[in-house]
Amino acid sequence: MPSPLVQTQIAGHSIPELAAQYSTPLYVYDAQTIVQRIAELKRFDVIRFAQKACSNIAVLDLMRRHGVLVDAVSSGEVARAVAAGFKLGPGEPAQVVYTADIFDRESLDLVINQGVPVNCGSPDMLDQYGARSAELGKAPLGVTLRVNPGFGHGHSQKTNTGGEQSKHGIWHTDIADCKQRAGRHGLSITGLHMHIGSGTDLEHLGQVCGALEKTALEIGPSIHSISAGGGISTPYREGDVRADLSGYFELWDAARRRLAEAFGHAVSLEIEPGRYLAAESGWLISEVRAVKQQGNNLFYLVDAGFNNLARPILYGAYHPMTICPGEGGEASGEGRASTGEPSAPRLSNHTDGATHGHPTQKVVVGGPLCESGDIFTQDEGGFVNQRELPEARVGDFLVIGCAGAYGAVMGSNYNSKPLAAEVLIEEGKAHLVRERQTSDDLLRGEKLVSY
Ligand code: LLP
Repeated sequence: MPSPLVQTQIAGHSIPELAAQYSTPLYVYDAQTIVQRIAELKRFDVIRFAQKACSNIAVLDLMRRHGVLVDAVSSGEVARAVAAGFKLGPGEPAQVVYTADIFDRESLDLVINQGVPVNCGSPDMLDQYGARSAELGKAPLGVTLRVNPGFGHGHSQKTNTGGEQSKHGIWHTDIADCKQRAGRHGLSITGLHMHIGSGTDLEHLGQVCGALEKTALEIGPSIHSISAGGGISTPYREGDVRADLSGYFELWDAARRRLAEAFGHAVSLEIEPGRYLAAESGWLISEVRAVKQQGNNLFYLVDAGFNNLARPILYGAYHPMTICPGEGGEASGEGRASTGEPSAPRLSNHTDGATHGHPTQKVVVGGPLCESGDIFTQDEGGFVNQRELPEARVGDFLVIGCAGAYGAVMGSNYNSKPLAAEVLIEEGKAHLVRERQTSDDLLRGEKLVSY
């Protein structure tokens, strides 16, 4: 069965109506999908959402209300956690953990003054945390270590966070040194964490478990928590299957039990997903603004670009796409009321393979930015690909799926484009959870030189 390439609703809401009310480009999140994903991970003691994947405070608040905790990689993410209702400070488990490979000066002082527990990704972080705590006259909390086990994996080399090519984590042979450093600062190493990459398979992720157990034994009974990190892939393409996590939990649970046995006390088991919780909950709605034939390629040019969704240009990432007829028409040309816009050129290679009787054609989907790489249908080498999509005209909507993780958060103001609005649909109601930026927002903080 071909997947439906024509889509008219998101979580029961009409796409043209959403677009009319909030304009495009528009991110829409379905709370129900997030809640479902959370439920699938409930066997872990702590689900810590890697908020870098989707840090809108309404999404974070939704996670919080469903028992999920968060990490933060910057002082900005700490502020987001607070705005979403998370409490700062130590705890068993702490609601917010700062996890990074460096401290900038602002975050170093923030975590010490606010008592935010730290997951150190470099030996320098340990030293800076210990030394600055002493300078500020604050008793340091116990720290956890993010260890690079010497191997990694990911959907792209750019998202592989383990091994010697990766800047992440404390190198696995530096554990004894870190124990000494921690000791010099009166710091206890209370937990261990590994994250080898994003969008990887359970076989590679499973290898982390053995490496982490070995490292935990090397550190000893000061360890009270272990974290499996994130990285679980989600289905993006038709035919992709969602990972079966039951065996994965069993693997980690068994390691945790062995460690608890060895240490003589309970060891808590965390998981730290980003994509798994957020990716499938989000769509990016764009409007088709031009349809043009250039040699062998028929382009749909939409009003969203890599300023809104950077994953295709960065990683050649594949996102599912659908067409939604604009107001007053069908996606297919026949029988469609005129929008008053120029009609799209038609190719002769219609395959009629799509559902709902809409003819399809091979197209390249691009955005509005003045850069040739602003193409949503491309592979990792940057080669433009054609995608089979229903016929579309100016005024129809192109909807990009699986955009909830690393979508809006990686948006930029390139070409002085405003960040898109975001809507969260919860319990049947659509809530505007981020206003589209205005021209004033874009200019805020800039100043002319005064002569
Ligand atoms: N924990 C740590 C320490 C991380 O660095 C990350 C992701 C995660 C957890 C969550 O990983 P996830 O479960 O989402 O795979 N922009 C890229 C992904 C970069 C991920 C960075 N770190 C993308 O769009 O694929």
